[in-house]
Amino acid sequence: MTPMLEAHNLQLILSDKEIFKLEHLVLRKGEVLALVGPNGAGKSSLLLTLALLQRPTAGTIRIDGVHAGNGNLLAMRRRMALVFQDALLLDTTVTRNITIPLRIRGLSRKEAIHRCERWLDRFGVAHLAKRPARILSGGEAQRTSLARAFAMEPELLFLDEPFAALDYPTRKLLLGELGSILQEMNMTTLFVTHDYTEIPYLARQVAVLFEGRIIKYGSIREVFGDEILDRRVWVPWERD
Ligand SMILES: Nc1ncnc2c1ncn2[C@@H]1O[C@H](COP(=O)(O)OP(=O)(O)O)[C@@H](O)[C@H]1O
Ligand SMILES: [Mg+2]
Repeated sequence: MTPMLEAHNLQLILSDKEIFKLEHLVLRKGEVLALVGPNGAGKSSLLLTLALLQRPTAGTIRIDGVHAGNGNLLAMRRRMALVFQDALLLDTTVTRNITIPLRIRGLSRKEAIHRCERWLDRFGVAHLAKRPARILSGGEAQRTSLARAFAMEPELLFLDEPFAALDYPTRKLLLGELGSILQEMNMTTLFVTHDYTEIPYLARQVAVLFEGRIIKYGSIREVFGDEILDRRVWVPWERD
């Protein structure tokens, strides 16, 4: 089967600095890949490049087998949704935060409301529908942001440290719920985090990015060993 995303010889240079360089990265349909590495490793830059929001200095990206180029970027971006550490909600109600982008994409009011209700309910925040987004807690805001992303029915989901700002109990609960939803939807996902303990909740495959290079790529067990399951893990970018 054609991979959902495939990158070859991808390189990004900004202000004369090489941010990342990688030979090959592939995301199969339905796969959740964790991209893990310390702050400054280049994770966000790589995510934005793969999401076609940052133009690479060199290399190619294929989305569902088709080369991403100038002519089709917008159409390709519309097959993707992104969730960042900051929920980036508009200063209006929770419902409108979800329906406005759907209406912009041409959905009928009825269909937009239907999707909104479905995903608010799935992320456990249906009761917040009429609330102004600005008064939400961090966890509620991230649930809304996730509901907005899923309501777009993307074929490719990008998550950039979506829970980094949340307290531990909130983070753990949300990771567990999101893990079930990703599986249920068979959602192709790139999950960026600097916290390797978050990986097993969502992903089976891991790429470790360090100083702009993928230094390890494989299953959780191949990269971290069995100990990750009880959290006494070896951190791949910590040199002894
Ligand atoms: N526009 C830019 N110009 C120059 N350097 C940048 C720019 N954006 C990011 N960087 C640098 O790229 C490196 C990787 O940043 P980033 O992708 O945000 O890493 P991460 O998400 O892993 O923390 C950092 O050293 C950062 O300072
Ligand atoms: Mg980052």
